[in-house]
Order: sequence, then C-alpha cells, then structure tokens
Amino acid sequence: MRKVLSCNIKMHCSFIHLDKIFNFVASLSDSNLDIIYAVPYPYLQKASDMMKDHRNVSIFAQDISQYATGAHTGEVSAEMLEDLNISGTIIGHSERRISQKETNESLRMKVESAIKARLRIIFCVGESLNERERGETLGVIEHQLKAILPYLEKADILIAYEPVWAIGTGKVPTNKEVDEVSLFIKNSVFNFYPQKNIHILYGGSVNEENCEELTEVKTITGFLVGGCSTTQGIVHVGKTLEKS
Ligand code: PGA
Repeated sequence: MRKVLSCNIKMHCSFIHLDKIFNFVASLSDSNLDIIYAVPYPYLQKASDMMKDHRNVSIFAQDISQYATGAHTGEVSAEMLEDLNISGTIIGHSERRISQKETNESLRMKVESAIKARLRIIFCVGESLNERERGETLGVIEHQLKAILPYLEKADILIAYEPVWAIGTGKVPTNKEVDEVSLFIKNSVFNFYPQKNIHILYGGSVNEENCEELTEVKTITGFLVGGCSTTQGIVHVGKTLEKS
C-alpha cells in the first residue's frame, strides 16, 4: 500500500503561511507518498490552486456539517466541498469531538454526507488519558468505530488513531501501544468487511525525531501530523515514511 502523509494545519493559516507550508510540500511532491493537507475553509481554493500540478497532493477540509443544507449559520456542507472540487475531509477529530460535543450519531451523519458528496474521509478515533488509565482504550475505540463500520463498503475511509493525550503534548505512545490499537482497528474492519484493506494512520505529536521509530509499527501505513506539518520537519517525516 502506498504510504499516506496526512497533515492537519488546524487554525494556523494565512496566505503567507500557506506559501511557506507548500514550499515544504513541493519538495515531497515527487515522492511515492499520498500526501493530504487539511486546511481551514477560506484557504481551500487557494491551496488547491497552489497544488494542482502536484498529483500526489490532495487538499482536504478539517470538518463538514452533518447537514446537507438548511438554516445552519456558519456551517459548511459536504456538497459545498464537492462544488469546490475538494477531495476529502477529516471527520471526528478529537478537538471537535470535545469542543463541539460531537456524538457518534452526528459523526455518522457527517460520514453519510461525505460519502454522498464522494469525499474521501480521514476518520479520527482515540482515547483520553483517563480512559487509557482505566483500561478502557479498546472499548472506546470500538464505540467510536461504530460510526463508520457500516459505511466501509461505499466509502474511501482512512482511520487515524490519535490518542487525545498525545495530541500537541509531545507525548507519544509506545510502538506496542500503537500496534495494539491499530491491530484492533484492522481486525474490527476485517470482521465487518473482510474485502476492505484500509489505511490506519497514527497521529499525535509525530515529528522529525520520533517518526523513524513509529514507522516500525507495521500495522500503520501513515501519519496524521499536526504541529510539525507547518514546519520544515515535515520533509524529514515524509522522507522517513517513504523509505519505511
Ligand atoms: P499534533 O496534532 O501532531 O500537533 O499532536 C495531531 C492532530 O491533531 O491531528
């Protein structure tokens, strides 16, 4: 499987910033990686224009509305992204699960909307520190996966395992911990839909220092990178992933 370097630049964006980031990305654009950059809505069009000659780079949104249309001030629907020719979106990032109180049901509706609009999906799952300490990690992941398992046949979904306690903290789980969860995700997908060979990404404080060790986890086929994705370090992360 071709490795996936997916990047979530969150709310760190301006036109100047975008120029800088895509200079880094351009140096990876002849690599054998599937590169995804998720940018804030106002920059989607500009980012797509900037990357249009780089065939292995796709631009994603960071979220979509659960609704197709209607009186939902400030929301952006999957169809709007389709209109803009945007290829995909992140769904279920823990920052949104927490700040927007997203539930499995609202995420399921988002997944359905994305599929209707033929968008690719990066679906994020992950446990909090309390949940891990209480030994509930796999139970939490199992519950979160329920929002997507019924759609696997129709959808182009990548699943990102992102422990909430590893995001933006500099803390990274051990390879054994990553492997345990990614294997659990792989088996859950297999039990539901044996024909589907799915990408499982790891996300949470991935950077140029820890990426090499993380590539030793053979059940993951890529990363979802936050902070490091707007720095020169992403080039090293990409090259390391490509070599692995
Ligand atoms: P981080 O973010 O790499 O800054 O920890 C990852 C993410 O939120 O997807």
